[in-house]
Amino acid sequence: MDEKLWAEIDEKEPIPEHIRERMEQLRARRRTVPEDRLIKRPTMIEGIRKAGIVNTGVLDEVAKHIKAGMTTQQIDDIVVEYTHAHGGICAPYGFEGYPKSVCTSINEEVCHGIPSKLRKIHDGDIINVDATTIVDGYYADASRMFMIGNVSEQRRKLVEDTKKCLELGIAAAQPWAHIGDIGYAIAKFAHKQGYSVVRELGGHGVGCDFHEDPFVAHVGTKGKGMVLVPGMVITIEPMINLGKAGVVIDPYNDWTIYTADRRDSAQWEHTILITETGNEILTY
Ligand code: MF3
Ligand code: CO
Ligand code: CO
Repeated sequence: MDEKLWAEIDEKEPIPEHIRERMEQLRARRRTVPEDRLIKRPTMIEGIRKAGIVNTGVLDEVAKHIKAGMTTQQIDDIVVEYTHAHGGICAPYGFEGYPKSVCTSINEEVCHGIPSKLRKIHDGDIINVDATTIVDGYYADASRMFMIGNVSEQRRKLVEDTKKCLELGIAAAQPWAHIGDIGYAIAKFAHKQGYSVVRELGGHGVGCDFHEDPFVAHVGTKGKGMVLVPGMVITIEPMINLGKAGVVIDPYNDWTIYTADRRDSAQWEHTILITETGNEILTY
């Protein structure tokens, strides 16, 4: 979002006084408090909500058609067509040179798998489809796992437990809690199931831009990190590995992240709004 528009909205819709006061109190107590920029105002929230609705439609459309034998390029085609038909733009396309409109990450691919007409989805695969949609300049970001045909029990459990990690992270993302509470909740459950949690990548502020502050780690310590203030919009997007936590980047395309041990990985993502009473998922 450009500076001028932001300043206009800030002027018309300032941060509510009681929230500003509480932020000041916490700042005085040396807590990390978000900058004003990270507190979304009603106009912005409405915009992000609209982007969220289209983004959810994108993933629903993928869900309708995804099946063994299709290529990841065909998923990209579905995403582009649906997004454009609904007044949106695919944020990944051209983002820092990213060549496609969605990420499709299969099995040992952790994230940022690039759609290709040479890559088929097979029976037994697990695949993450990660879509980010821009509507009227506002961004919403979410991803889901899809299980293709007959998936092993181990893969099914990884996918379901990773969804549970996202749910636990969302439950921890309460107003005036800390970013560290989110990672704590996620890692506690993941480790109990014998999995590891990817550390190099995380969730992020989102809404007026693709990636905003703060970084949302999926491991953490209760009570540490930035305070979650009503009006913040963040993603939570745990990447959970069956084996070790280490990851490597594809040396050829410089995008795709794999598990270093080449064991499976899963991820689910939502964009959420921190409210005064809890949070709201904007990508349902
Ligand atoms: N959607 C990813 C995220 O959750 C980012 C993808 S960047 C891209 O943050 F360029 F690969 F699209
Ligand atoms: Co995403
Ligand atoms: Co994201």
